[in-house]
Amino acid sequence: MIRIEGLRKEFDKGTVALEKLDLTFEEATFVALLGPSGCGKTTTLNCVAGLLEPTEGKIFFDDRDVTGLAPKDRNIGMVFQSYALYPHMKVIDNIAFPLKQKGVDKEARHQKARETAKKLQIEHLLERRPAQLSGGQQQRVAMARALVKEPKILLLDEPMSNLDARLKIEIRDEIKRIQQDLGLTSIIVTHDQEEAMAIADKIAILDNGRIQQFDTPEVLYHYPINLFVANFMGNPPMNFIDARVEGDAAAPCLAGKAFRLPLAGELAAKAAGSMGRAVKIGVRPHQIAVHDQAAPGRVPMGLQIVENLGKELMLSGLVGENFVRVTLAEADAERYRTIRQEEGAVHLELLHLNIFDAETGLNLAMEG
Ligand SMILES: Nc1ncnc2c1ncn2[C@@H]1O[C@H](COP(=O)(O)OP(=O)(O)OP(=O)(O)O)[C@@H](O)[C@H]1O
Ligand SMILES: [Mg+2]
Repeated sequence: MIRIEGLRKEFDKGTVALEKLDLTFEEATFVALLGPSGCGKTTTLNCVAGLLEPTEGKIFFDDRDVTGLAPKDRNIGMVFQSYALYPHMKVIDNIAFPLKQKGVDKEARHQKARETAKKLQIEHLLERRPAQLSGGQQQRVAMARALVKEPKILLLDEPMSNLDARLKIEIRDEIKRIQQDLGLTSIIVTHDQEEAMAIADKIAILDNGRIQQFDTPEVLYHYPINLFVANFMGNPPMNFIDARVEGDAAAPCLAGKAFRLPLAGELAAKAAGSMGRAVKIGVRPHQIAVHDQAAPGRVPMGLQIVENLGKELMLSGLVGENFVRVTLAEADAERYRTIRQEEGAVHLELLHLNIFDAETGLNLAMEG
């Protein structure tokens, strides 16, 4: 288990990279730190690794305070964004390097390097130098070097950023398998939300040195806590439709330019507290059903573009002033195969929606 308590990092000249971060990573889980460039992901990871000294706050591995410990005393394996392999060393010596630092003799450390290389299927590359390897092979060598000490904790900083799309998926699966096989507590830094969703048990979303939300991929995807998270997760992105909470507290509705959506259940109860406020309805492109006919509770969309994406059909157009995308899976899409953009209007049924306060950006359903 890794616990970060009140972590703050201020670089000189007053650059605050992290503001009071609190996070707990459970034993043997895979957590992703996700966020835009400059939000503080690498800084967080380097503090956990001991490469950076926190300005304030503490870091614990299990119940042990490691805040003051040097990186070599933390029993971690780390893969850096640029693999940082030593160009003049053979692969075997690159992999064995952390053991050399620990004073393990040559024969023993080569033996261990060979075993680790075998797990990663790079035994045949041991006599080469890094320049003679492909990007994917270099990545595996960097992984082997991180794992050779049999660490309990594995830290990965954008480990796949130099790989092509296909290899990324392969390596991603491999990293996940190793993490599970060895029961490692693992943190991966990435700005790729798809990668984070695929690999991680939990995702911490950072913006501007602050945690926005820390939860499972499912919760982040379906119940983003604010507009930032909602925007960040999902591709194509979530749609936002401007509306206002109207009606009376017993039966609130969302009123837009050309629609009124009655609300029911828990969502109604939450929305009732925001009567009269401007909101943004958040709805994902595949959580919309498309109808030809207008009906109460449906939202009219002026159809502009119809694209066939192969496994699905994407319809886009305007709801009021908001550009909205809808994806229809093949099964649903059948009757829309022949739909044409000249046809004008379709009517949207929002199957799962989130409501965000337009001013604060907060998800009404997640408050209180
Ligand atoms: N050594 C440093 N000195 C001063 N400021 C720094 C230093 N390292 C990072 N920063 C600043 O701290 C903030 C967070 O940087 P960090 O490297 O953690 O971002 P990141 O989320 O990893 O971004 P990226 O996705 O681009 O790698 C940035 O504003 C950055 O400019
Ligand atoms: Mg970084």
